[in-house]
Amino acid sequence: MCSATNNRGKLKKNNHIEFTELEWWDWSKIAEEMMNDHFFSTKRSAKKLTSPPRVASMFSGCGGMDLGLKWAGYKLVYSNEIDHRASETFQYNLGHKVDTRSIDDVDIEAMPDHDLLVGGFPCQPFSYAGLRKGLRDPRGKLFFALMDILKVKKPNFFIFENVKGLLTHNGGETFQNVSQAIYDAGYTYTHTVINAADLGCPQRRERLFIVGTKKGVPGSFTFPTFRLPRVSLRTAIEDLIGRTDVENNDPMRHTKRILERYKHIPQGGTLADAPAEHQQRKRGAAHMVSGKQSTQSYHRLIADDVSPTVCAMFQAHFIHYSQDRNLTAREAARLQSFPDDYVFKGKRTVMSWEKELSQYAQIGNAVAPKVAYVLARGLYEQLIKPNQK
Ligand SMILES: C[S@@+](CC[C@H](N)C(=O)[O-])C[C@H]1O[C@@H](n2cnc3c(N)ncnc32)[C@H](O)[C@@H]1O
Repeated sequence: MCSATNNRGKLKKNNHIEFTELEWWDWSKIAEEMMNDHFFSTKRSAKKLTSPPRVASMFSGCGGMDLGLKWAGYKLVYSNEIDHRASETFQYNLGHKVDTRSIDDVDIEAMPDHDLLVGGFPCQPFSYAGLRKGLRDPRGKLFFALMDILKVKKPNFFIFENVKGLLTHNGGETFQNVSQAIYDAGYTYTHTVINAADLGCPQRRERLFIVGTKKGVPGSFTFPTFRLPRVSLRTAIEDLIGRTDVENNDPMRHTKRILERYKHIPQGGTLADAPAEHQQRKRGAAHMVSGKQSTQSYHRLIADDVSPTVCAMFQAHFIHYSQDRNLTAREAARLQSFPDDYVFKGKRTVMSWEKELSQYAQIGNAVAPKVAYVLARGLYEQLIKPNQK
């Protein structure tokens, strides 16, 4: 089993793009492609490939991963996502029907054949030993459903995505189980943590990517060895202030108390920077300060920096760098590198008891499409195209 980690070494600069000196594979063509803002400004862009690789997409969400694959010229043949709102977004933008059954209920034999399986599996701890005994650990079954697809459909490649904490979870045992299961399914893999900020997204987002190859398929995959110039928040979202001509850009209407609180928080600051009278109040006792001072909540972004990670609950945490309000869904979508013509369906936010993904959650859950594009392009050039000849 091969498992390369980050091969970033000393960097050299070329046309504002930084490359490692140790280049296992020349990423410069793809790095240059990433500088073409025009290409990434619409979901309609797509590379023209003579023989587009076929993709089956699991845990598809709103389609962040799939948009990147589409841009790279891949052909989606199957998509699965249980949430009906995320599926609606996916279908609307990518024009492909989504199977909304739980992954456990999918008839794998009936799935179309594909060259690449992708999936950002929900990351719960699980026990491989339990599986061996034939007892499906309910917390791990979603990952093992992916393994079942590999065993039955035998695609040449897969790309899985997860939080980087999967590497260290349970003292590394969880990732060892993942690793063993992949190997037992007949695949080798390489993995690394990619920061979306290095690949043109105005957001620090470190995610684990696992790229797998069916045993016997020649070649091995090498992760990007380049780093693009940082894109600041100001560059990325300044033009969206007050815009009504783009979808998903309605600002939230905050209460007077919250607005007052926001006014006291400087760029890079948190609620802890607001005076006592503006601190959070106790639930059910609005006259009492709660004493809670999370460094996470009410964090005002820094205009000339990238943003912290956009996660499913980020709207509660980020304050616009110059406006006294949270980010709009469109601003967050820009931080994830979604183009403005990618429309998010469903409610902007949902109450905890509502069983559907809000626009904010769909965006925060997504793989940044630009990151997916880079990996898909690399996989195509390094392994798929040479094997097609
Ligand atoms: C991290 S998100 C995937 C985001 C997606 N890769 C993207 O780039 O937009 C995980 C998704 O898995 C879906 N999911 C969770 N359990 C599922 C199940 N049992 N069957 C199918 N989808 C499921 C969730 O609704 C969620 O949208």
